[in-house]
Order: sequence, then C-alpha cells, then structure tokens
Amino acid sequence: MAESMKGLHRSHRCTEVSSGNIGETVTVMGWVQKRRNLGSLIFIDLRDRSGILQIVFDEPKVGSEGFAKAGTLRSEFVVAVTGTVEKRTAAVNENLKTGDIEVIASDLRILSESETPPFPIEENSQTKEDLRLRYRYLDLRRPDIQRNLMMKSRVAMLLRNFMEKEGFLEIETPILTKSTPEGARDYLVPSRVHPGNFYALPQSPQLFKQLLMCAGYDRYFQIARCFRDEDLRADRQPEFTQADMELSFVDVDDVIDVNERLLQYVFREAIGIDVQLPIPRMSWQEAMDRFGSDKPDTRFGMELTDVSEVVKGCGFGVFAGALEQGGSVRGINAKGQGAMPRKKIDKLVEFAKGYGAKGLAYLAVNEDGTYKSSFAKFMTEEELNALVEKMQGEPGDLLLFAADKNKVVWDVLGALRLELAKQLELIDKSRYNFLWITEFPLLEWSDEENRFMAMHHPFTMPMEEDWDKIDSDPGAVRAKAYDIVLNGTELGGGSVRIHQNDVQEKMLEVLGFTKESAYEQFGFLLNAFAYGVPPHAGLAYGLDRMVMLMMQCDSIRDVIAFPKVKDASCLMTDAPNVVDEKQLAELSLSIQAAEGDTEEV
Ligand code: AMO
Ligand code: AMP
Repeated sequence: MAESMKGLHRSHRCTEVSSGNIGETVTVMGWVQKRRNLGSLIFIDLRDRSGILQIVFDEPKVGSEGFAKAGTLRSEFVVAVTGTVEKRTAAVNENLKTGDIEVIASDLRILSESETPPFPIEENSQTKEDLRLRYRYLDLRRPDIQRNLMMKSRVAMLLRNFMEKEGFLEIETPILTKSTPEGARDYLVPSRVHPGNFYALPQSPQLFKQLLMCAGYDRYFQIARCFRDEDLRADRQPEFTQADMELSFVDVDDVIDVNERLLQYVFREAIGIDVQLPIPRMSWQEAMDRFGSDKPDTRFGMELTDVSEVVKGCGFGVFAGALEQGGSVRGINAKGQGAMPRKKIDKLVEFAKGYGAKGLAYLAVNEDGTYKSSFAKFMTEEELNALVEKMQGEPGDLLLFAADKNKVVWDVLGALRLELAKQLELIDKSRYNFLWITEFPLLEWSDEENRFMAMHHPFTMPMEEDWDKIDSDPGAVRAKAYDIVLNGTELGGGSVRIHQNDVQEKMLEVLGFTKESAYEQFGFLLNAFAYGVPPHAGLAYGLDRMVMLMMQCDSIRDVIAFPKVKDASCLMTDAPNVVDEKQLAELSLSIQAAEGDTEEV
C-alpha cells in the first residue's frame, strides 16, 4: 500500500547530496531506477530530475521490516529514503555525479508502486518514438528529455532577464483573435455566441505588437505561443513558442545590435558558447548565389559556382535550354569524390529530382586528368576545360551541375550540398555559426496563387532605394527584413515595419487586396496608423528551435513536453478528436462526411 508523506520532508535532490554531506542524515525522494540484491545488502539507484544516487539497505541499519520492504522494490516505484551519507565502500562510479558516496538507509517509505513500464526509462533510448510519445509521461522521465526541458526553462529565464535589463515590457496578446497572415493556414475556433463566426489562433503576435508600439510601450517582449496549420518537419510544430519582441524609434541596425547582445548573453549563460560579435551579415542574394539557401550552413564550404557564362552557347541542350529560358547553370565541387561509384551518383540524381531537378549532370576529373561525365560528349574539349577551370576542379574531384530556373537550381544544389556534407561528414558539430541574412526580396511570386505574396509578411518595410520599382518591377524590391541563422537553421526573423498608411495600403494593393478588403481584414491596424505611429521594428525567435540547436537535438519534439507528430495529432491524448453532438449544436456546427473521411464545416 502506498504510504503517505506524513512527517517527511525532502532535504536534498539526489545529486545535491555530495561528499560534503558525509556523516549527515538526509531524506531523498524519487523513482527506483534499479535494484540489486547482494546477499545481505540491497542496493538501489534512486533517480529524480537531478540525477542518480545510490542507496544501500543493510538489515541491521534499516530494520527487518525495512529490509523486507526494500526487497519488494521494483523499477519506477516512488520512494522516500532517510539515511546517513557515507563514502562509498565499493568501487567509486566515475560516471555518476554522486559516484563517490552512498546513503545507508535507516528508513524507507514506498510512496507509490509502479507497473513494469512499456520501455526502460533510460538515456539514449532505442525505443520507437511512437511508443515513447504514446507514453510521453514516462518518456519525460528520461534524463536526456529532462535536460532539454530544464534548458528550455533556463533559456526562457535568461531571455526575460536580458529583456528586463534592456527596458522591455512583457505584455500578453490574445490567443482568441483574428487571423494574422504569416503565410500558414490558421487554426480556427468556432464562436458559440456568434454562430458561423470563428476566432483564429495567432500565427504570431505580429499585429498586436505593432499596436503596442502605436500605444507607446516602445519596447515589448513576450514568450508567446503561436499556432500554424502547416506541414510539419523536424523543426516545425503546429504550436510552438516564440521569443517575440518589438521596438520603437529604431532601424535595422538597432534591432541587430540588441539581438546580438542577447544571443551572446543567452548562449554564454546557457551553454558556455562565446558568440563572436559582430555576427557576420550576408545579403539574401549573396546567400542564394553562394549557398543556394536563405539559411546557409556555413560550417563547411562546397559553395555554388555560377557557370552560366562559361557554358553559354555550348552544345549540351540541357544547359543551353535552361539559359535560353532565363535560368542558370550552376555547380558544386565535391572535392575528392571523383571516384564515387555510378550507383551512388545515381542516388544523388534521384535526390536532386526530389527537389524539383529534371536531372543532375556530373563530371568527374580522373586522376590522369581525363574526364568521366554524363554530358562530355555534347561539349568540346575547350568547353569542358573552361568549365572545369571555373569550378576549380582538380584531379579526383566530382562536379555536379543543375540547369533550370534560378529557384530550382538553388533549391537543388542547396539541398545537395547539405546532403553531401552529411554523407561525407564535413560538418564540425562543435561549431556555432551565426549569420544574419538581410535584404530579402519584399515579394515572392506564387505560381499557385498567380500573384505576388509577401516574403516575410505584409507589414514589412521596403528598402527606400527600391520603392520606386514597386509598380514596374515588384519582384526586384528588397525589404528591410532580416533572419538570424544558426548552423543552417532559421533561428529567428523580423523586419522594420511599414508605419506610413500610404505605403501600407500600396503594399496590400500589390498583394491583391482591394482597399475595402484590406480595411475589412486589417482596418484596426490601418486606423491605428492614422493616430500617430512611431517607426518600429522587431524580431521573433523560435524558442523551441533555439533550445533544439543548443542541445544538438535532431527533432524539435525533443524540446517540447507534449509535442505533436507529423499528422499534427497527439499520440498520448488522441487529439484532435470527435466532439459530441451537443457541443456541435451549441456551436451551430454540423459535420459533413467526405469520402470516407470527416471534415468540419
Ligand atoms: P517568422 O514567421 O519568421 O516571423 O517566425 C519567427 C520564428 O519562429 C520560428 N518558427 C517555428 N518554430 C517551430 N515551428 C514552427 N511551425 C515555426 N514557425 C516559425 C522560427 C522563425 O524564425 N511575426 C514575425 C516576426 C517578426 O517579424 O517580428 C514571425 O512570426 O524560428
Ligand atoms: P539526358 O540528355 O536527358 O540524358 O541528360 C544528360 C545528363 O544531363 C544526365 O546526366 C541528366 O541527369 C542531366 N540533366 C538532365 N536535365 C538536367 C538539368 N536540368 N540540370 C542538370 N542536369 C540535367
């Protein structure tokens, strides 16, 4: 039977007990990691969130009843032990923080028993993630997940410290709100009082933080939950947390300055990493040209080379064709990979096709200086030599080329570069390479929607020097937007905002809004701008991503206590789920069956 806490007080967490406590009486509480019987002694490893402490039950010390009780202990029983701290008699365990001591129990209480868990509660579990997530409350006991969540708590605390010192106010913004367009689909919440009307969960506090600037709060900060109905990936969850900020009377450099100091402080205090300031900056155009990505991983080279000029007019139809259609031909040099077997190259071709490539042309420079290539037969010796020279190809190198529209070429080679770096183990995992990406295009053409879309969001300020191109060449207008990238992941992003109504109205017009529809959706913002608005700018970090990178996790799920899986469901609670008829009726909703599936209307 489970015993009570009556009269008991925990004196230490397991690893707070140290050799400094030798001779003292302590009371510790936690979960039994394992039990070993060694003749007249019973040992247990007691675990709490701090770590593990060895407890010894010796019949003369704990009494015959206590000793018998200790003999019934099994993994995950919750116990309280009172005893004396002693120096370990047996071999010291170097792997444990408490490896040189043990507690000789004088009293044992079993606070709760446990069934055998469906998987062992231990570090680096080999258990399949589905099972772990179904029993997340057990999975959360594992030390690696506990360390991640403790780090997240610490990082949030550090962020708050920093922001407080810098004069930011933490202000909450609503969760039940109107759609804020950040480019993803909204999660909707039906209104009971207004049948047929819906709240949207915020994709970010964007509009509210801008309104707070209008209201004079001048430096706002919030650890804010955001909701986005988008396809999940290893670094994306449908609900996630932003460390969100907005500042008044600032321009790009002011935001970058405060955030560089923030990153330096948080990374030093949290994981002892010394972020060198200033963090390098790179324009979006340069990032695309050199790395094929707006979030380049700069821990290794293998940069892209534009060979369009060199192959112009060559006999290879694939190259010539791409150039004729306004595209480009670019390549990467996989140094020393010239001997890569054909099968492996074919796999790279398939990989490239997954990113939209029609093919991937290759040329290996043999050790004797001759070439092995998928397209050599279409080109003259001179053309090939010029191409190899442009690529700085040396004997033993493998050159890979994509020819297509710029966007496809960048996507393909950007992804291929990362894939090769992974396969060839080119990445130094101990490095933390921060990089600002600036001067993003303001707009991005969407073939799907057949119109321009905001690259960041519709409230981002265009660069003054480009604004006159907004009608003649909208795609060429750059924005005062910036992303902070860490080791190839977008850690955060932000922009200077439009604070002039005429510019905002024009921007919304370019995005396809009529004046009426713009006011219908964002009237509260546009109206607020009519009453005196300071120039303002801001940025938001993905807090989950920040901790994921700090802890070098492969998945964002490892830093979220109760995450969702790929189809946005929670395996533990079975959310989302059906609701009963009464609830639907109250909301004036009915469910329409759709081809074997159900869909809310
Ligand atoms: P943005 O959309 O770039 O900007 O988001 C800011 C940061 O939030 C993180 N993030 C995510 N993390 C986990 N799962 C997701 N689904 C997800 N989506 C985004 C990323 C990203 O860099 N309002 C603007 C900020 C601003 O302009 O001030 C915004 O939300 O790390
Ligand atoms: P093909 O003439 O289609 O057999 O292509 C010859 C070589 O060019 C093959 O290695 C293809 O993979 C490659 N290739 C085809 N299309 C492209 C492209 N758009 N970019 C780069 N290489 C391509």
